[in-house]
Amino acid sequence: MSSLRFVQVALMGATWLAVSGAALGQGVVKLGMIGEFSGPFAQYGQQILGGMKAYMKQHGDMVAGKKIEIVQKDTTGPSPDVAKRLAQELITRDNVDILVGFGLTPNALAVAPVATEGKKLMVIMNAATSIITTKSPYIVRVSMTLPQVTQPMAEWAAKNAIKKVYTVVADYGPGLDAEKAFSEAFKAAGGEIVGSIHTPLQNPDFGPFIQRVKDAKPEAVFLFLPAGEQGIAFMKGYEERGLKQAGIKLIATGDITDDGVLEAMGDPTLGLITSFHYSAAHNSPENTAFKKAYSEANGDKLRPNFMAAAGYDGMAAIYEALKKTNGSTDADKLVAALKGMKLTSPRGPIMIDPETRDIVQTVYIRKVEKTGGGLYNVEFDKFPDQKDPGKK
Ligand code: PHB
Repeated sequence: MSSLRFVQVALMGATWLAVSGAALGQGVVKLGMIGEFSGPFAQYGQQILGGMKAYMKQHGDMVAGKKIEIVQKDTTGPSPDVAKRLAQELITRDNVDILVGFGLTPNALAVAPVATEGKKLMVIMNAATSIITTKSPYIVRVSMTLPQVTQPMAEWAAKNAIKKVYTVVADYGPGLDAEKAFSEAFKAAGGEIVGSIHTPLQNPDFGPFIQRVKDAKPEAVFLFLPAGEQGIAFMKGYEERGLKQAGIKLIATGDITDDGVLEAMGDPTLGLITSFHYSAAHNSPENTAFKKAYSEANGDKLRPNFMAAAGYDGMAAIYEALKKTNGSTDADKLVAALKGMKLTSPRGPIMIDPETRDIVQTVYIRKVEKTGGGLYNVEFDKFPDQKDPGKK
């Protein structure tokens, strides 16, 4: 064979290998994104995916020689059975390599055993009940836990002359976690819990609950509700029943003043104090770049919130992990690469706890103010390096 002919044959062989490799999916890493894209929690999926797209806008869709593809699925709300079936289909039919997303706790919990059985990395980009990461060795969380963001609020309240608090929480995992973390930390700091209410996850009518709080005359009400529509409804009731005028302060986790709905809640939120890990008003070059990429990737209609930030950070973590594994999607290798990983997030420094696979981060105390042409959660105090106290 002439040397030219040899080169031609060799090139043909290389091309064939490349083509068949792509056909087999060897050059692609598929992310199965399970989120809430319809119903009352539809903004969860939209925000998380929006954050993921913002990362890809900034960093491209290639990492470690692999092309990143997203296959998106809608749970339609808190529907564990649907979430589980979608995860099974994503693994067996769509051949995804990694499971990502998960706004609501019940959906994440239902998928955990599927990730274990299918040996797939599962990256939690919101669902925040403490226990979730213990349900599969392949789960890594890049969002928050309710005990983590709640405990600083209790400590701050006790230090700021609040002594008697009524707690109101949504009646499911994150709400019960928040209630426990708040009561324990607040009592330890000398405070008193004068009553507690659990509100339904779906379609709550807050009026009667708010009246009960008012009648008990606490100094403050501590609130956890899942972000979005419910916060709007609660703030309306708080305003209508005159709690502010009665001198009852509202303190909460930042889910209530979610950046995605803060403008819709309007001026009644002014002065509201919350504790949380992300604010669109966070002042850093990383956050400025994140917001720019988010609007370039998704348009200007929605302000990115904490779920978008977690979607973005989840992608950053996946890209960095793939670099370390040279593109391997083996779940054990990816989890090993993620343990102890440190990133500079739009929210500040974050780390994946090597023992729990949960996130370690700064929790900020913020106040709603009118600034920069709108309502924002302005950070004024912080608790650095917070682990999930739910696991101590
Ligand atoms: C959850 O279901 O874990 C969840 C949902 C919304 C939040 C926080 C936690 O704002």
